[in-house]
Parts: sequence; structure tokens; C-alpha cells
Amino acid sequence: MNRVPTGITGFDELVDGGVPEGSSVLVSGGPGTGKTIFAMQYIYEGAKTFNDPGLFVTLETNLKNITWNMQNFNWDIKMLQDQNLMKIYRLNIAGLGNDAKSIEEQISKELTIISKMVDTIDAKRLALDSTTAFSVWIREEGLLRHILFKFVNDLKDLGITTVLTAETRGGNKYMFSSHGVEEFIVDGVVALYFTPPNRSVFVRKMRGTNHSKTAHAFEITSDGFLIRPKDEILWSSIK
Ligand SMILES: Nc1ncnc2c1ncn2[C@@H]1O[C@H](COP(=O)(O)OP(=O)(O)O)[C@@H](O)[C@H]1O
Ligand SMILES: [Mg+2]
Repeated sequence: MNRVPTGITGFDELVDGGVPEGSSVLVSGGPGTGKTIFAMQYIYEGAKTFNDPGLFVTLETNLKNITWNMQNFNWDIKMLQDQNLMKIYRLNIAGLGNDAKSIEEQISKELTIISKMVDTIDAKRLALDSTTAFSVWIREEGLLRHILFKFVNDLKDLGITTVLTAETRGGNKYMFSSHGVEEFIVDGVVALYFTPPNRSVFVRKMRGTNHSKTAHAFEITSDGFLIRPKDEILWSSIK
């Protein structure tokens, strides 16, 4: 089996060298736990260190925020974008109608665009930040779950190694998304926690590989994630 090293400092050691090629991994956590940074760093390191073209799909409404967020780190994304090693796409789902049919049509259009972009740059990596943002546009719970299920499955069908993010709320450390849908479909779940002052990362599941079964300390620095694989955090200390 081929592995895709994320390039995120310390993370690959937790999953025996990298995530299985072609898998989809959900990165979940409360607000400010580092989900967006993890997803960006996966694409950035892929392009810079492994020469893997990557597509970063955001549901953030303001593209300036993305660039601003990346400039916050010592990452030169301009050069990688110029070389077609990295592309940022803002998913267009603002102004979705209310009826299931038009929502499904719009989303399937967006999937076609994503799939074309993947072909254009021959992307080996994809990140989508975040699935939670769908709930802003799709208010009806049953429809939202249906769309999430379909969307995440269709992304999986692209066959490239994918990181998705989902936000959890309410401080339940056993919840991995806000609607309980994404974690069933994906091959891996990585949970991020911030119990001030401690940040920790826990690999909840990873199909097809051995992985660490404990929580590990990490920091966010001006270079992004810095995970300390030897530094274990007591599960009971995570709230
Ligand atoms: N340059 C930096 N140095 C240290 N910490 C940072 C830096 N930039 C961002 N952070 C931390 O990362 C957090 C944001 O992470 P982010 O990935 O956006 O969270 P999430 O997507 O989970 O809501 C900030 O709240 C801050 O604590
Ligand atoms: Mg975020």
C-alpha cells in the first residue's frame, strides 16, 4: 500500500509514515483547535516538500481571509500557485435555493468544477474546509444530512487523498462532526482538542494502517503545526 505523508511535523509518525493513498480523512475539533491550519498545511507541504499538486477547497466566504491566514505563516504560497502546484477554490453555494432538487443540482455542478480542477493540475491531494459550513445554507436537518452524505461520498469517488474538516460544538470529545454524518463515510478521523493551555491531537480511526492510540501534545507556531509524537496527553485531561 502506498502512503501519503502529510508533511505535518510529527503527524506522520502517528500513522506509520502517512495516510493510506486515496483515503479520506476527517479532521474534527471545536473552534480554534487548528482544523483550517491542518488542512492548509497538508496542501502546502504536499506541494512544497513532495511535489504533489493540491487543491484547497474552502467554504469560507471571504477569500482574503484564506490568503491572510496563510501569510500568517512562513509559507510562500504565491510561488506554488504560479507553478500550478497549489490551487485555492471557493465553493460556490451561497444563494442556494431551499428545495432539495436545486440544492442537489448546484452541488453536483460544484463537484464537476472540483473534479475538472483536480484534472487540470493533476492534483494528488485535496482539502475541503469545512463541511460544517453547509449548515449555514441548508437549514433543514434531513436534507443537510442527505447532502453531506452524498457530497463526502462523491469527493471520495475522486480517488485522491483528501482531508475534510468538520467543527464540533458543545465540548463532547466523542463527537466528530456537528451532524454525525461525515465520520461514518471517511476512512480516518483525526480529532483536535484545545483544553487551555494544552493542544492535543488524537487519531480516532485510520483504515488500512496501524496508528497511535493515544493523544499527543502539539503547538501551533509560525511554521504551523508542531506535533510531539513522544509527548502523550492523558485522555482524562481532555475536556
Ligand atoms: N502564527 C501563529 N502562531 C501561533 N498560533 C497561531 C498562529 N496563527 C494562528 N494560531 C492559532 O490557531 C488558531 C486558529 O486555528 P484554525 O485552524 O483557524 O482553527 P479552526 O479552523 O479549528 O477554527 C488561532 O485561534 C490561534 O490560536
Ligand atoms: Mg477553520
